[in-house]
Amino acid sequence: MPEPDPVLFEVHESHLNTGLRGYPVGSCRTSAVSAQEGVSYRGYSIAELSTLSSESVIHLLLRKEIPSSEDEAIAFSNELRRRAHVPDEVFRLLEKLPKQAHPMEWLIAGILYLGMVDKADDWQEDGLNLIARINTVAAAVFRLREGWGDPIAPHADLPYGPNFAHMLGAPNAHEQLGELLRLFHVLHMDHGGGNLSTFTGKAIASGHADVYVSIAGAMGALYGPLHGRANQECLRFVKEVGSDDPQRVESFVRAKLDSGGKIFGFGHAVLRAEDPRATVQYAFAEKHFADDPLVRAALALRSIAPRVLKENPKISNPYPNVDAISGALLNAAGLQEPAYYTALFGWSRVVGITAQIIDERVNLREGRGVPIYRPRFIAVDQPPRSL
Ligand code: MLT
Repeated sequence: MPEPDPVLFEVHESHLNTGLRGYPVGSCRTSAVSAQEGVSYRGYSIAELSTLSSESVIHLLLRKEIPSSEDEAIAFSNELRRRAHVPDEVFRLLEKLPKQAHPMEWLIAGILYLGMVDKADDWQEDGLNLIARINTVAAAVFRLREGWGDPIAPHADLPYGPNFAHMLGAPNAHEQLGELLRLFHVLHMDHGGGNLSTFTGKAIASGHADVYVSIAGAMGALYGPLHGRANQECLRFVKEVGSDDPQRVESFVRAKLDSGGKIFGFGHAVLRAEDPRATVQYAFAEKHFADDPLVRAALALRSIAPRVLKENPKISNPYPNVDAISGALLNAAGLQEPAYYTALFGWSRVVGITAQIIDERVNLREGRGVPIYRPRFIAVDQPPRSL
């Protein structure tokens, strides 16, 4: 006799039209998100992951293990390098895009075009190619949109994160930029199966669109200010705070709340404690950028805002999320235009979403894959009528 199907969740009318929040719809093999501990990738905590190279974490999400030997790690890095070539026509397309368009719109255009000119129509092959190539495409988005010059080719010997810093060639780059980008990349790669961009990417892929189109759609979901674009708003907010004086910061937070404003960088859909991705970045900020005025303002907010927010019993999570300090850090390391921060989030999240798409297409359900997404919407306000 087969075991009875366990009931994971009862659906009530009150669950309708709530954005599927918390509603179980599938399983995720790459990462898990807990309200208290935050995200882990394949059982490794953020504190552990934060010491690894991008390549090791990409390997972990795609192949489900960290490379088991130095040789395996080198072979995988070489594999990514071998696939990293971006056809020149992708850059020619980017050059034609309007400068007033958001960097995420550029990134989406670049991903789509990459698929148009160079696609294998194979989930694993295209997935690995896209992860290898997005480094070059995302760096070119910065350079061409900012007018920093022609795209820079990948360096043959640099690892993924520092290579991205090399390809950016940012005019005011701090010596820690490469290391910061490695950390940012690793921290932002994945966040469970249900965040909007991942869900969207998997939903598109479930209709058997290819990886490029699915990821472009996922990036569209990430572009919204309630999802990935929140990180650029956070730096604006920290600039508005503009001080690390505890009294001034507290008055600012109180005044903001009294006027119905939002405290950017605090709270999260799932977490109910400080986001470990924020904790790791705070430590990096204290180590390398302790004198930077915006970093100091962000650190002051960390110690003051949760206390003030906790006074309101309706606020379920008064703690910092991943965005609370990332913008101040990027700014201190020389990337001063906040509009790019969402594109950096996208550059990182491409890895996790691609890994989850591959799982849903070729690994889950004993290799049969997940069928096309087709949830049910209950028809309302439509009594029978006749003409
Ligand atoms: C995040 O990284 O925090 C997310 O993508 C947002 C979420 O999990 O809904």
